[in-house]
Amino acid sequence: MSTQKHKDEITGVETTGHEWDGIKELNNPLPKWWIYTFYVCIAWAVVYWVIFPAWPYFWDGAWRHTSGAIGYTQRGEVASELQGVAAGRADILKQIDAMPIEDIAKNDSLMEVALAGGKAVFRDNCAPCHGSGAAGSKGFPNLNDDDWLWGGKLSDIQTTVTHGIRWEADADTRQNQMPRFLDDSMLKPEQINDAAEYVLSLSNKADDAAAATRGAAVFSQNCVSCHGADAKGNQELGAPNLTDAIWLYGGDKATIVQTISHGRGGVMPAWGGRLSSSTVKELALYVHSLGGGK
Ligand code: HEC
Ligand code: HEC
Repeated sequence: MSTQKHKDEITGVETTGHEWDGIKELNNPLPKWWIYTFYVCIAWAVVYWVIFPAWPYFWDGAWRHTSGAIGYTQRGEVASELQGVAAGRADILKQIDAMPIEDIAKNDSLMEVALAGGKAVFRDNCAPCHGSGAAGSKGFPNLNDDDWLWGGKLSDIQTTVTHGIRWEADADTRQNQMPRFLDDSMLKPEQINDAAEYVLSLSNKADDAAAATRGAAVFSQNCVSCHGADAKGNQELGAPNLTDAIWLYGGDKATIVQTISHGRGGVMPAWGGRLSSSTVKELALYVHSLGGGK
């Protein structure tokens, strides 16, 4: 490869002196538009460096960058967007706080927020006892069905969640408790056996018809004050319906005998003091929406 410069005879332009097998490179100047675009790019870069965070530097054991004249950061952008969302939510929460729960249920846009909020709070606070799908387990009621101990209207659920059940620290808590018929010597074991057979007969599961008949008498003397003459329960008293084959503690004979003998008295904490009233409303609306709300 020769590096000798000379003028190209055809174009009259000087060559760069590079030559490959007789092919030479003309030393044409760069086009003006290209040069100016290049300068503009450099100028833009300088301006960008000054305005935006750009220059990396190592200082005090970590990589940092200049913060730029206008102090822009993407973190800041996100923070201010979140602030906007929070402000919008605060507004909605104020409305939820001020409105009776039944009115919230009629407002689609408030309901959207309330149900989403209720679902999240439920996962954090209620799922440990009621299960993540609110299906409950032994002693912890299923909140998806329409079988209610203390009532399934919005206001009932709101009261239950606010004050808890047999929660001593709350003066307005849901009280009432089934007696411990054996422990407190109110019934003899045979009577309890008969009463259990009667309870089983209500869901067609009794084995011993004679015992069930005797049990009906025990029931009418000892149980109807809470469970009702038809044994369908009483939500004022948290007494479950004994005829629907839905069991809080279990529908086998041994479990029923145990319930009658020793009582149960399940406890649910009051949330009124721990969660804001708008959060409790959101929870009540969420639980109500699970399927069994009245
Ligand atoms: C420590 C366990 C526990 C936690 C946590 C708990 N619950 Fe309960 N919950 C219970 C028990 C036990 C009962 C049933 C009490 C009874 O026997 O009457 C109950 C009953 C209920 C009822 C009444 C159901 C009915 O049939 O009337 C509702 C509604 C309810 N819980 C909602 C909630 C919500 C909402 C939360 C979360 C804020 C929550 N619970 C957290 C234990 C708990
Ligand atoms: C003072 C009211 C009261 C009286 C009286 C009462 N119960 Fe109950 N019963 C309840 C309550 C409240 C529950 C819910 C469990 C609990 O938390 O104690 C319950 C629960 C039960 C259950 C468990 C149901 C389930 O789903 O697991 C059975 C069974 C039962 N009662 C049978 C009886 C029988 C039989 C008698 C009479 C011998 C009786 N009860 C008397 C209030 C009462």
